[in-house]
Amino acid sequence: MDKTSIVENMYAKFGEIFGSDCGAELFFSPGRVNLIGEHTDHEGGYVFPCAIDFGIYALAQKNTGKSLRLYSMNFDGDYHSPFEISFSDISAKLTGSRSWVNYPIGVADVLMKHGYKFTSGIDILYYGNLPDGAGLSSSAALEVLTTKIFSELSGFGIDGVKAALYSQEAENNFVGMHCGIMDQFAVSMGRKNNAVLLNCSTLEYSYAPLELGNYKIVITNSNVPHSLVGSEYNLRRQQCENALSDIQKVKKISCLCDLSLDELDEYSYSVKDPVNLRRAYHAVSENVRALRASDALKAGDLAMFGRLMNASHVSLRDNYSVTVPELDTLASLAWEFEGVIGSRMTGGGFGGCTVSIVESGRVKAFIDEIGAEYERLTGRKASFYKTGITDGAGRIKT
Ligand code: GLA
Repeated sequence: MDKTSIVENMYAKFGEIFGSDCGAELFFSPGRVNLIGEHTDHEGGYVFPCAIDFGIYALAQKNTGKSLRLYSMNFDGDYHSPFEISFSDISAKLTGSRSWVNYPIGVADVLMKHGYKFTSGIDILYYGNLPDGAGLSSSAALEVLTTKIFSELSGFGIDGVKAALYSQEAENNFVGMHCGIMDQFAVSMGRKNNAVLLNCSTLEYSYAPLELGNYKIVITNSNVPHSLVGSEYNLRRQQCENALSDIQKVKKISCLCDLSLDELDEYSYSVKDPVNLRRAYHAVSENVRALRASDALKAGDLAMFGRLMNASHVSLRDNYSVTVPELDTLASLAWEFEGVIGSRMTGGGFGGCTVSIVESGRVKAFIDEIGAEYERLTGRKASFYKTGITDGAGRIKT
């Protein structure tokens, strides 16, 4: 569906669900794809993501009551009225068929804890075209979008970096997923045709123009559903923390990514569990790769950029153990495909997508041939998305 039809449908639905659409304003949050720097954000390292065309739209307006009313066109098809909760009643995570509301109400909870006061109720209707469970940050998109809506409609004046931090806090403390800052930062601070190089320890960031010349970004969904809330994501973080605390007994560092590869090697004897050491090795080497890759992109060395992407996948597979056989199959098929510069799993892992840099003239063949071979080898159908790189979340014109 194109943007105009999406927005028309949303206005019609808004009227049906909330009874009026007179003042509703349109907002959009992109999803994100991470080019390189995976599982480094929670270890104080660098990430290199960009915001993508696919995302979540929202229509929002103040209401005359004191409650937050929410409706999702993606999840609430069985309901004819919005989910409603008074701001003063938000306390704990909800379960049940409308559990998606934990993301927006989690954000409201965090903002109130930081002293922001909602003086009127708010109605929000959401519609997303991000594939569900694909690992393209639908959760972060929903959180950041809602934070920005609350800020605009209630006059909170929250800037993009703070919006990312509050959204991450909602995900960590309300939803219970101990994610790093990458996803929320990318969808909040993304810039059209640029990737964001973010130091997750200091939150210093810079933009790097994505000059891919005759190449395109292709996202391939393995269609192995990915859900980080129920995955071993929190366990991987714990394993890194265990490695960090072992190393801290012999070397003064505040996070794993403070170490160079040589230093990790030098202090490796202090890490008691070999599994924890492999996790640390991934984080430190991936941090080095992320920096080298952003330098390679700036220097126009796409071949180097691609090799680093491939190496990232290998480390996520062998050291961090967050790939699944389907993602490994997609990556291997892409590595052997003429016209592909680099390919790797992207996001948290345990299912979800790969990101590949493919020569423009070979994109169709990539989709046809890799799609067929993937189905033959795994029995699953892959989905392919050609995406543009876009700006971060905010109000948009209808
Ligand atoms: C998920 C998390 C991010 C990040 C990635 C892996 O997307 O939400 O914080 O850790 O996994 O790089």
